[in-house]
Amino acid sequence: MKNKAIALTLAAMLAAGVAAPTAVIAQPIESGYQEALDQFDQKAIRKIDVDRIYNHIATLSEAPRVAGTDVENRAVDYLRDEFESYGYDVEVQPFTYVGYTEPTRIELAVPGHEGELNPGNFTYGISGDVTASLVDAGIGSPADFEGIDAEGKIAVIQRGEFSFAEKIVNAAEAGAAGVVIYNNSPGALNGTLGGHDDRFIPAVSLSQEQGQSLLQHMSGNPDAEARILVEGAETGEHTSHNVIATKHPTNKKKDTGEVIVIGSHMDSVPGAPGANDNASGTAVTLELARAMKNLPSDTEIRFASFGAEELGLIGSHHYVSELSETEKDRIIANFNLDMVGSRDAGDLIVASVDGEPNLVTELTQKASTKLNGEPTTRGRSGSSDHVPFHQAGIPAALFIHSPLEPWYHTPEDTLDKISKEKLLDVAEIVAAAVYDRARFDNQNPKDKKRKESSVPKEAYFEQSIR
Ligand code: BES
Ligand code: ZN
Repeated sequence: MKNKAIALTLAAMLAAGVAAPTAVIAQPIESGYQEALDQFDQKAIRKIDVDRIYNHIATLSEAPRVAGTDVENRAVDYLRDEFESYGYDVEVQPFTYVGYTEPTRIELAVPGHEGELNPGNFTYGISGDVTASLVDAGIGSPADFEGIDAEGKIAVIQRGEFSFAEKIVNAAEAGAAGVVIYNNSPGALNGTLGGHDDRFIPAVSLSQEQGQSLLQHMSGNPDAEARILVEGAETGEHTSHNVIATKHPTNKKKDTGEVIVIGSHMDSVPGAPGANDNASGTAVTLELARAMKNLPSDTEIRFASFGAEELGLIGSHHYVSELSETEKDRIIANFNLDMVGSRDAGDLIVASVDGEPNLVTELTQKASTKLNGEPTTRGRSGSSDHVPFHQAGIPAALFIHSPLEPWYHTPEDTLDKISKEKLLDVAEIVAAAVYDRARFDNQNPKDKKRKESSVPKEAYFEQSIR
């Protein structure tokens, strides 16, 4: 957490218009690593306005920003307009993906069966309305279907041994018209078919208990029938977007050719307003773009907002896949801000995919030590947009608070749970860390040494989050 004494001293100096000296603000810390907030750190952070961050979150989190929907498109427009209003050239990069819409209605009716049946859906399952007699098809292997007549019937299949998709395709190839798959352990079954397949027939899932009750009903009623009804399920091509604003190096002659990407995802999961996941990271990215607009720098900084992260990091994968080898080589760091403002989450973590330190974690620990008196805890995590950068060999890390808040991916992920203190802490750390690398090297004779200095090993702490 922020060291209040440091924050107040700095705020007071800035308010009074005092030119900050280079080495007096930070307090000694136990690790023995001492460095003060210098003029560059102060330049990087002084324009950050946390109320602007908060207001962006308020605007973005009015409704869930599900990838490919109008609400996500409105977020794209908002981001483009904001970046442009700060004076940036903005690229809106569209991309397509195959997406699945969950059914609006799913029913399983078995006349004469006593007891409740609560059918579930399989992701990528198709819509349909099938009334037919029921047949026990074991685990749904080709051998199971050889021994029975499934033609035109609804096959009742047990979970296990091979995929749900294979069971459904085996049933379809044996001529079945529909499928019920029941669990092989207690409880409900929530499954995915992994992707669309033209051979699929309508299918629903049942818990182990309800599956066994259905089989019992069938054994006493050889002519038992059922109706499967799935409405509104759809697999189709959707479009989402990435939005990228570029801050070019101030002086072409001193351009290092290096690029730093500060990124975050703009989309949320269905039903969640996503104030923290991830209007927070998106809003901090916007404000960093505004606050850093006129900083003299010799390194390109890109402010990126990715779409369709929640569907499998689709936007960031697309962004990285479109980069040439030369472009990939130019990118020296990816700072990924995802869930950076929850009042109910734990402390800030800077997490690389492999848990190892890299340029991003090092710059971050150096900046946080200067700002707060202690280095941000390092961690290990995949599950967000830094992964495609890491896979391309680019030093990358995720900024997130750990442990997560209980509202993660729920309708309760709302503005009232957002902490301005947490937002400001992350924004300042990232601004100072990025500017440490992006500022001109030749403004201070000590620069060369400064760039090489890093947090000593004993200041590293590690935490694995997921
Ligand atoms: N904001 C989360 C990332 C996250 C959550 C990272 C918890 C680490 C711990 C992100 O938006 C998310 O929900 N990611 C998905 C995975 C993604 C590949 C769809 C997840 O973690 O389930
Ligand atoms: Zn997220």
